[in-house]
Amino acid sequence: MTSTDGNLVKEPKASLNDTVVVNSVSADEEDDIPMLSSHTLEALKEFLAEQNQAAAAAEESVDADGEEVSLVTENWNLSQFWYNRQTAETIAAEVAALSETLISPRVVCIACPTLYAYLKKIVPGVPTQLLEFDKRFEQYGDDFTFYDYNQPEDLPSSLKHSFPIVVADPPYLSKECLDKIAETVKFLSKPGESLLLLLTGEVQTMLAGELLGLRPCGFRPEHSSKLGNEFRLFTSYDPSARLGGWQHDI
Ligand SMILES: C[S@@+](CC[C@H](N)C(=O)[O-])C[C@H]1O[C@@H](n2cnc3c(N)ncnc32)[C@H](O)[C@@H]1O
Repeated sequence: MTSTDGNLVKEPKASLNDTVVVNSVSADEEDDIPMLSSHTLEALKEFLAEQNQAAAAAEESVDADGEEVSLVTENWNLSQFWYNRQTAETIAAEVAALSETLISPRVVCIACPTLYAYLKKIVPGVPTQLLEFDKRFEQYGDDFTFYDYNQPEDLPSSLKHSFPIVVADPPYLSKECLDKIAETVKFLSKPGESLLLLLTGEVQTMLAGELLGLRPCGFRPEHSSKLGNEFRLFTSYDPSARLGGWQHDI
């Protein structure tokens, strides 16, 4: 589901309008005790279990070789929803395959820290820069560059037109956000040369085509926390048989 302001949102679980009393109490205590329906209680339990799962996934995820990939805990106020392991590995493998075709591969991850972490495990030799708003990622040293999409070109000039591979995952599903992220993508990419990958909601399909010439692939990105939005991976190039192929009929 997308909120009216274009935020990414977790799936709604249930409404709070039934009136089955869960706690057994005496009549005079009854007024002070909150009442939840059994349906709502189940939804609450499911939500808490998911939160625990996401927190556990945040502490450590394990890649295909059984090696740990450390991630920080999601902050939903920053629209942080990390890829699940399969999605992170699929995109990292795609970036690795693209890197092999280039003489001097260099990757920039715009607001996708999980991908950065997986790339450092899978292809540690490929120079990779993370542009992020969350300063917890300063832990990556010189590979971290502070980035606020509201200032799309407020970046070191050394990064201009210097990345043959650009991957972006905008925090919001608004036109305003994608317009600005597209400015950043153009600032960072080598004009006419770079391979672009964008992960965002399906609702952005037309805009991704208009702004950056991207088309959706068959592959559906998934997250550790279940989101209500349908997600897609868009690319500037035909991935052939990889990523579920390129969708031509849009
Ligand atoms: C939808 S998440 C994408 C994360 C990706 N799914 C992953 O697993 O790496 C959006 C990202 O945008 C970042 N973000 C939040 N506010 C931002 C802002 N004002 N400018 C740039 N990035 C921002 C969040 O920290 C988060 O990493």
